[in-house]
Amino acid sequence: MELNQIDGPFPAGFRWGVSTSAFQIEGGLPAPGRSDSIWDTFCRRPGSISDGSNADRACDSFARWQDDVELLRAIGVNSYRFSIAWPRIFPTAGRPNQNALDHYGRLVDALLEAGIEPWVTLYHWDLPQYLEDAGGWPNREIAGVFAEFAHAVSLRLGDRVKRWITLNEPWCAAFLGYDEGVHAPGRTSLRDALSAAHTMLLGHGRAIPAIRANSNGAKVGLTLNPAVITPATPSEANRAAARRYDGYFNRWFLDPLYGRGYPEDLVEWYGPEMPRVDQRDFEIIAVRSDFLGVNYYSPYYIAEGDGSQFLNAKRLYPENIGYTDMCLGIEPGGLRDYLIRLPDSYPIGEIYVTENGAAYTDAPAVEGHVADQNRIDYLRDHIAAVETALTAGSPIAGYFVWSLLDNFEWELGFTQKFGIVQVDFETGKRTLKDSAYWYRNLIRQLPSYKPAAM
Ligand code: FCB
Repeated sequence: MELNQIDGPFPAGFRWGVSTSAFQIEGGLPAPGRSDSIWDTFCRRPGSISDGSNADRACDSFARWQDDVELLRAIGVNSYRFSIAWPRIFPTAGRPNQNALDHYGRLVDALLEAGIEPWVTLYHWDLPQYLEDAGGWPNREIAGVFAEFAHAVSLRLGDRVKRWITLNEPWCAAFLGYDEGVHAPGRTSLRDALSAAHTMLLGHGRAIPAIRANSNGAKVGLTLNPAVITPATPSEANRAAARRYDGYFNRWFLDPLYGRGYPEDLVEWYGPEMPRVDQRDFEIIAVRSDFLGVNYYSPYYIAEGDGSQFLNAKRLYPENIGYTDMCLGIEPGGLRDYLIRLPDSYPIGEIYVTENGAAYTDAPAVEGHVADQNRIDYLRDHIAAVETALTAGSPIAGYFVWSLLDNFEWELGFTQKFGIVQVDFETGKRTLKDSAYWYRNLIRQLPSYKPAAM
């Protein structure tokens, strides 16, 4: 197998990891002690999931978590980003479910024992259905309920978990879920999406002090999916559309997080759809965070015109770049440029690439061997882009592959394979793909962080 040429400036503390999320891998449903999340409900709605599947079984990781830790150990990552299922911790409002907390406690202990640093994401899209029934994220009160969830989890795990991500990609959770309706809960109102995004940001701001109070020395941040947005042509109209898209997609989150409130140009554009904003909200949202997580998959080319958005801006898919299975354009330079430019615009302490990876249909394993050179190429080129950004002075401190396992890819069900480990969804059997061996070899030859085993 080809060995990469990446041998650059990665410092000894650099985090090399893989990411997953609870709903996409855990399965074991319906389970005692866990109530439905909005995604369970959404999966039952005919036509919501492209292959008609659900995540009742998924990778069965709730039962097979020890197998997953063994995989992580075999690959040699020093960090593992996973999420905590909110409907397991609070299957109903009230007191947290101790059994569920115990489960994650065991996972954390096993990771630390294997020399792997746990990175906990609190919200990776699985809002308990009873909270959606109470209005969902557009209801401001959910910010406080989220802070209680953050408190309960950090109270239990905060002595051992020192890396916390409050929210994963609030743009997707708010706009795909409440405006476009293609993600759970499947609502279609711009006003609801804007309110949902606002509550999520408030929830982030209220969760951070709770986590810090429970976890001495914790580093806390959130993960966005900011996009490098390029006008499809340099025409005035396309440049204006790209600027709007940048406001809608990037600045809407980054500006308030870094103390600037909502961007004026978009506030004007949204007009009466704007959510209620109280006087202290921006102060709460702009609470100091320690890092920004960036999920990067593909570039965005934007032109004026009627897309699915209300923005009079649409995304184009140029023919001169390659695409992964999910119709995501391949452009590692986008990641490089973003990592370099982002700290110029916002006072970001550290950046972590908390997700990057590629969906490709893999051939079945032959004698325990899954050949996925296209995924290796994708990962190599993007890690090289991170290396270039580091050399240029970007404060990038870690990189996580999406994903450890082939898993349930939201509205696309099991049609998209992002794992560096193949999963046989009938038997649950896991097989390392060539990309996992490639990643292992890469990590081995670079200096990297080793957490102290417990
Ligand atoms: C990201 C999500 C993650 C996964 C990847 C492919 O937007 O955070 O759960 O679905 O895309």
